[in-house]
Amino acid sequence: MKIIAGNWKMNGSRAALDDMIDAISRVATGDVRIALCVPYTMLRAGNAAVMIGAQNVSKFDGGAHTGNVSAAMVRATGAVATLVGHSETRDELHDKNADVSIRAARAIENDLLPIICVGETDTERDAGIGTDVVVRGVRESVPVCATDGGFIIAYEPRWAIGRGITPDMSDIENMHKIIRKTLDDMGFANTPILYGASVTAQNVHDIINIKNVDGVLVGGASLKKQDFIPIIENAK
Ligand code: 13P
Repeated sequence: MKIIAGNWKMNGSRAALDDMIDAISRVATGDVRIALCVPYTMLRAGNAAVMIGAQNVSKFDGGAHTGNVSAAMVRATGAVATLVGHSETRDELHDKNADVSIRAARAIENDLLPIICVGETDTERDAGIGTDVVVRGVRESVPVCATDGGFIIAYEPRWAIGRGITPDMSDIENMHKIIRKTLDDMGFANTPILYGASVTAQNVHDIINIKNVDGVLVGGASLKKQDFIPIIENAK
């Protein structure tokens, strides 16, 4: 089964989310699993067709941490998943892999499915260390409490996010093969790997059919029904 996840970043409204859930529910079939990761203020329960997730959770369980939202608070809204370690979060909060691992652990402890994001910058890619960074990202960001299939990895090349750049299909295939091997070696042979960065209705079919690509994580093109619904349809 393929997974299609949307990341709304700091966009949207509750009304737009209700509308999107309605639209997805009309086209979704049993062979795709759909998730929408939305700002905290829009979190709610999803339905049989759509899982709702947050975009991050605090490293802490509670207390004097102004501006933080705990995994338990996210779960209490009815949401069932969360992104952790998205490249924008890593940049803005200066999160390292070890921080991401703690966030993922908090998610798991609170019955949220973590979507753990990894990816290399253009500088790292040009220096020839892109695959090392990604492998380390997987090894160090997955917490010890993780179980096989109890989390998702999203590979997002940071140089391609939001820029309309699609890497060569062979580059995506190569990186997913390396991530697959890394996860297999860690005992996570059934853990899905998503691809994210500039996914559109035009390229989703080719990308989602690459070996070891179990789904996609969509940013900009997940915001509007006229963009996101064709992604779901073209991925089938
Ligand atoms: P875009 O699809 O807008 O490139 O964003 C990708 C992303 O960051 C999803 O998490």
